[in-house]
Amino acid sequence: MTNSPSLLDRVPVIPVVVVDDLGDAVPIARALVAGGVPMIELTLRTSCALGAIEAIASDVPEICVGAGTVVEPGQAALAARAGAQFLVSPGSTESLLKAMTDTGLPHLPGAATVSEVLFLLERGYRELKFFPAEASGGAKFLGAIHSPVPAARFCPTGGISKSNVGDYLALPNVGCVGGSWLTPTEAVKAKDWDRIAGLTREAAGLAR
Ligand code: 3PG
Repeated sequence: MTNSPSLLDRVPVIPVVVVDDLGDAVPIARALVAGGVPMIELTLRTSCALGAIEAIASDVPEICVGAGTVVEPGQAALAARAGAQFLVSPGSTESLLKAMTDTGLPHLPGAATVSEVLFLLERGYRELKFFPAEASGGAKFLGAIHSPVPAARFCPTGGISKSNVGDYLALPNVGCVGGSWLTPTEAVKAKDWDRIAGLTREAAGLAR
């Protein structure tokens, strides 16, 4: 088990990024840094994702790059080898937890129910990803479980945007949120890095 060092107390929003074109990875990372969010979760959903992590780790050392959508145990070591500094999984199985722990990297395992939260607390985790946040009850769910399960802190992701991020960040058991709204597909396609930096600047200023 390792949540240490904390992943939830670094930035208000962890940008969740899907890269289709390897050449976009470094400019996106630079735009996030320029906007004041030196952290990126690169999802392992595209064929160039590991290459994107490698490029960012080598060319943008000022950003903390992590791998998201870790759904198979083998992906954990591959992401670590590519240069990932943290790992995020949308759900949790024994073998996935073991593989992520074996990398020695801090990681956020996913939970969406009280039983899954308890399962992870029993294994020593205190920081969890709550996914898919909006579809699983959203801020109302997290607010309701704080009193019975105060030890768990969350990074909710899935369906969060400018319009509802404040509801999550106001909760005592939310350290930060994750989301893709800082890197809209159309901005990436247009290579509009200034727009991404602008959206990032707004997110960087959110109060926690
Ligand atoms: C994900 O892993 O897909 C994240 O939850 C991002 O979700 P979003 O695109 O709804 O922000």
